[in-house]
Amino acid sequence: MTINLEQIFPAARPWVENLVNVWPTPYVKPRFAFWEVGHVLSLIMLAGATIVMNLRLIGVGLTQERPSEILRNLRGIQTAGLVGIVLTGLLIGMANAERLYDSTAFIVKMLALFGGVILTYGASRPAAAAEGRISTAAKAWFALGMAFWLAALVVFTTNGLAPGLLHVITAAALLVLFVTRGRSRIVYAGVLAILLLAQELAIHLIYPGDLTRLDPINFGFGIIFAAWIVGTALLQLSRADRVDEGGPLTKIVGYATILVWVTGAAGGRWIAFA
Ligand code: HEM
Repeated sequence: MTINLEQIFPAARPWVENLVNVWPTPYVKPRFAFWEVGHVLSLIMLAGATIVMNLRLIGVGLTQERPSEILRNLRGIQTAGLVGIVLTGLLIGMANAERLYDSTAFIVKMLALFGGVILTYGASRPAAAAEGRISTAAKAWFALGMAFWLAALVVFTTNGLAPGLLHVITAAALLVLFVTRGRSRIVYAGVLAILLLAQELAIHLIYPGDLTRLDPINFGFGIIFAAWIVGTALLQLSRADRVDEGGPLTKIVGYATILVWVTGAAGGRWIAFA
């Protein structure tokens, strides 16, 4: 099953096809790579600031600093990254409109973009400003942002375990590895390693090249990986630490705000592959 803008707005095709003639596309198209570099640099600014700010809400990273101090220092870089990625995205998007019009990955990306803006400006930044406390308004924005993010993840699975989804699972696995300590980290990493080995054996030794069997097997491993990672993260939530501000929901806001942008980036990279 595929979902794309053509299915949602079928009558828009003539407008989409004509975008290549609309200013500034004739100027952008020959310099596509230059603007795409701008797109990636904006992503680095957005992602870098978002990761540092939200690792602090999770209770790791720059723990000697208060969340509000980190917000004060990085909010400008974060917003500049977001404005840059949307502006360069619109420019390269107009130069590549037909591909986006038929792309399921672009739907994932736009759902993640909306979810990312809502989680970042409605929940994560207000929580950092309040030293981790989550207001009622932030809880409402959090719920709305999560709905967009979960919708993006569902669309990512419409064709089985999309390669992009493995990026999100890997990012979540690394986040939890960073957060766990001592024996729990050894157990967590050990189980992940055993699962990875089992998956590699299935792919390369037991069913080499047999995609009809491997697709459902990989989908199954995706679910098992996600369950182990989310399970360990939930266990960690209940373990408060001396540097924590706020409660378990503060940490969940931190995780979700990082992973929603990873989902957007994975959707962006997947556009070229689909
Ligand atoms: C209005 C919003 C956006 C539009 C119209 C847009 C459009 C595009 C287009 C046309 C491409 C090139 C696809 C290709 O290679 O053919 C692209 C690539 C990409 N986009 Fe976006 N984008 C937008 C927002 C975002 C956001 C919010 C993120 C990340 C959170 C993102 C991350 C990426 C990434 C990682 C690539 C691949 C870059 C590469 O490997 O060279 N984009 N985008």
